[in-house]
Amino acid sequence: MTRRHGLSTISIHGSPRRGADWSPVATPIYQSATFRNPVGSSDEVLYTRYGNNPNQVEIARKYALLEGAESAIFLASGMAATALAHLAVLRPGDHLVSSLWIYGGTRVLFDGEFARHGITVTYVDPDKPRDWRKAVTKNTRAIFVEALTNPTMRVLNVPLLAKLASEHGIALLVDSTFASPINFRPLEHGADIVITSATKYLSGHSDVIAGAIAGSSTVIDEVTRLMRAWGPSIDPHAAWLTERGLKTMALRVERANDNAMAVANWANGRSEFSAVHHPGLKSHPDHALANKLFDGHGGLVGLVVKGGAPAAQKLLRRLKVITHAPSLAGVESLVSEPRLTSHKAFSAAERTAFGIPDGFLRLSCGCEDTADLINDLAGALR
Ligand SMILES: Cc1ncc(COP(=O)(O)O)c(C=O)c1O
Repeated sequence: MTRRHGLSTISIHGSPRRGADWSPVATPIYQSATFRNPVGSSDEVLYTRYGNNPNQVEIARKYALLEGAESAIFLASGMAATALAHLAVLRPGDHLVSSLWIYGGTRVLFDGEFARHGITVTYVDPDKPRDWRKAVTKNTRAIFVEALTNPTMRVLNVPLLAKLASEHGIALLVDSTFASPINFRPLEHGADIVITSATKYLSGHSDVIAGAIAGSSTVIDEVTRLMRAWGPSIDPHAAWLTERGLKTMALRVERANDNAMAVANWANGRSEFSAVHHPGLKSHPDHALANKLFDGHGGLVGLVVKGGAPAAQKLLRRLKVITHAPSLAGVESLVSEPRLTSHKAFSAAERTAFGIPDGFLRLSCGCEDTADLINDLAGALR
């Protein structure tokens, strides 16, 4: 799909159009569960659980344009988006091939909930690319990956996986939360469905829990049906805050990209860190792939502090600008220990195998001044 406007313009205006005189510039909040019906009308009723509240419709339209999708939908959380995107394409008895490098909450969903619904999952180590093809069986209906992984910032080869999925007539679902549509748009590279936790870059102020899915109208219609049945629609206020956040997404992501690159370059030269993970660094294993696929390297940096968890926690206690909290992609820089947050569900041995030893800090760079972030880290190390 060709876009008529750039990503910043779309984030602000959607499809720009002349508004009526005296109409509000910002979308008003329709904080209403229901809407008046014409008597005797058999048209679809307006009801906020149905996803047809104007605040919900507006952000879905913008997100579809940003991802270059036919259609999109917002849900009450990123996890709701992950769950319903998969349930839209999988049935009991079906098989899913998933990357091993995924958010812990998604792993819990797959292992606990999908198993209960008769959906089996095989995990592939993306460092063994031949295993993707080997994992596909006659029951496989979908492949799932995170485009930019948490927390080692590895980049998955979406075009290659899209080719494999299309050869087998199965769907490729990509969680692109860490990249955001400003840095990477999976549908442009052959993916079928893109999932995002809108809690992160789309809303961008650490004050909203939301998720979104973009793809073909057929898939989004099915997700809509599931949402109406299961109920995880987005609240109008969360939708309104997301629309407000979207307007500055391009600026925020560009600033976060710059801050993360500067922090990674600074940290790379410091003896206190045994490893620095950022795809913008030449030493990162996916640097070339990131340059090929992405418009920006992302706002996250993985820092492995020498001395393990005690040394990492000493650093955390001394930070003043950077906040110790889970989540990411807000205007404020956040740092967390994945072993206690996103990767708590994994054993220490599994985490070490993923490249997440104790002492690993995941830093989500926000929009503060670069020097203040570096000085905060340098001061904490002193
Ligand atoms: C990559 C990724 N996907 C999905 C989610 C789930 O999002 P939410 O917390 O909005 O449900 C997260 C949460 O951190 C995440 O990091």
